[in-house]
Amino acid sequence: IQTDIPSLKDAVPFTMGSAVTRPDTLGEHGRLLLKHFAQITPGNELKWDATEPSEGQFTFADGDYLVDYAVEHGLKVRGHTLAWHSQTPDWVFKDGDRDLTASAADKALLLKRLENHVRTLVTRYKGKIATWDVVNEAVDENQPDGLRRSKWYQIAGLDFIRTAFRVAHEADPAAKLFINDYNTEFPRKRDALFALVKKLKAEGVPIDGVGHQLHLNIEQPPASSVEDTIEKFAKLGVDQQVTELDVSVYTDFVSTYDTVPAEVLALQGYRYKELFDVFRRHRSQISSVTVWGVSDDVSWLRSFPITRVNAPLPFDDDLQAKPAYWGVVDPS
Ligand code: XIL
Repeated sequence: IQTDIPSLKDAVPFTMGSAVTRPDTLGEHGRLLLKHFAQITPGNELKWDATEPSEGQFTFADGDYLVDYAVEHGLKVRGHTLAWHSQTPDWVFKDGDRDLTASAADKALLLKRLENHVRTLVTRYKGKIATWDVVNEAVDENQPDGLRRSKWYQIAGLDFIRTAFRVAHEADPAAKLFINDYNTEFPRKRDALFALVKKLKAEGVPIDGVGHQLHLNIEQPPASSVEDTIEKFAKLGVDQQVTELDVSVYTDFVSTYDTVPAEVLALQGYRYKELFDVFRRHRSQISSVTVWGVSDDVSWLRSFPITRVNAPLPFDDDLQAKPAYWGVVDPS
């Protein structure tokens, strides 16, 4: 890795994080991680399918590895994630072969499972994981009530969110509890999430913060819409974090490059710069910014939504600083 360039974590006025998985802690990737980042988010290791693949059978080997690594190296950890519609095993929503329904008995069973899951994870990592994405991607701005029709919602309504936050708070009263979502920079999604958080906070649900995933691309949306979102949520008095930043070099779900052109990487550098200008301006609202991967070679956008060359992060496949890196470290 380049040892003669500034550390990202020293160049920004908030906690700089990266998503990681075990290989990113090893070899040169590990050196890059420790030089530039003060926080990690396990990319998959704390999700339900990884931690409770069958009922009551908890598996923590991968999660423990990353959390222990963080403790050993003085990194903070964002716990990701406790209640989500994706990467959640089928058994959670079934009673034997039968799908759970919205009946009182089925709802009670689902919420009991949720309570056990949340309590077990948050208790295990108490004092080590300071921030949790308690609920992920609960909003669907195309529904009349703005709520995603996940199995969680269909069986338990909003009570799945209330339960997850209540139990997480009971298990670790010091943990900062977040609701996390994507596309929050778009007005309709922003407004739907805002309405949800406002309602839940008015009820006393212990939500400390809002996580903006920020899976963006080189053309849109403009940084000004990210800024509008931060300013809107500031009115609720919640902490805000950027939780999964990346800037795809593609503006659609089908294009592919053999090699990403240099001018595209340069444009991406300006996009990073505009975004970090916004984050710096709002340093009193934004406590942390996480990129979703230490370097391009390990980005999830190499396989989502299709397999293709993508280069959405500040460091390239050889772990060298890209224009995107300079966009982060060079304030206006
Ligand atoms: C992604 C992981 O990075 C991939 O390895 C996995 O195959 C799918 O999930 N929003 C989220 C993250 O909240 O958990 C997702 O992570 C990316 C989109």
